[in-house]
Amino acid sequence: SMMREISGINETEEKLKKALGLEDVVVVPGNSDEEPWVKSELGRACAYRIKAVLMGNNIIAVTGGSTMAAVADALTPDFSAPEQLLFVPARGGIGEDVQNQANTICAKMAERTGGKHRVLYVPDQVSPEVYKSVVNEPSIKEVLTLIKQAEIVLHGIGEAITMAKRRKTGKEEMEKIIQGHAVGEAFGYYFNEQGEVVHKVQTIGLQLEDLPYILHVFAVAGGASKAKAIKAYMNSKPKSTVLITDEGAAKNILACS
Ligand code: BG6
Repeated sequence: SMMREISGINETEEKLKKALGLEDVVVVPGNSDEEPWVKSELGRACAYRIKAVLMGNNIIAVTGGSTMAAVADALTPDFSAPEQLLFVPARGGIGEDVQNQANTICAKMAERTGGKHRVLYVPDQVSPEVYKSVVNEPSIKEVLTLIKQAEIVLHGIGEAITMAKRRKTGKEEMEKIIQGHAVGEAFGYYFNEQGEVVHKVQTIGLQLEDLPYILHVFAVAGGASKAKAIKAYMNSKPKSTVLITDEGAAKNILACS
């Protein structure tokens, strides 16, 4: 639009695409670190993009976090076939407060759109033995199968240390994250600046290697403080990911590229 051209947002999007090697980027005005309404704008931009790609029977896998909660808040009951929408948590419990848990967010997304949702109840830190028995539990198996069939994945990106603390990560794992110079985090994977995985939260559900098979992946993350994290994650070269971010993050990313 005219407004976007005048404010230079279009130009920022083009520059960001080049800097991050992405085909598609959306930048909303503002810095969500400073102004809370910017996070709602990120949510709205994502909701708009979801509608644009929806076809037929749709399974949407979603991670946790306050940004995903903002996406849920931005969804409206005007989808053409809401009964065909199915929201599933992307991964098992990875230590979030209830309002930021993927289970809660999926329930809210279903409620707001008139779609359906499933829950995935998995303990936070699963031992290999528990893992083996849990994945064979019929109710869990069903959700895992649905996740693999998802056409859309919505996920946040976090600053590594912030996320590790928020998850009350144990001493040993914390060491691994720090020693590995992790700066970014997405769905339980911790990345260094080069985009290499230095640590991974052991849980069931969507794995990094599943991403290339997902038709539409939307990464939603903003705020100047997340610039390094976003860059690190994008250095892992996630295939066909659309980044939805804000000016605060975009300017910082461009300033250090
Ligand atoms: C968590 C996800 O729930 O939210 C993380 O598991 C993600 O992968 C994080 O990085 C983002 O949180 P927020 O609140 O910054 O959107």
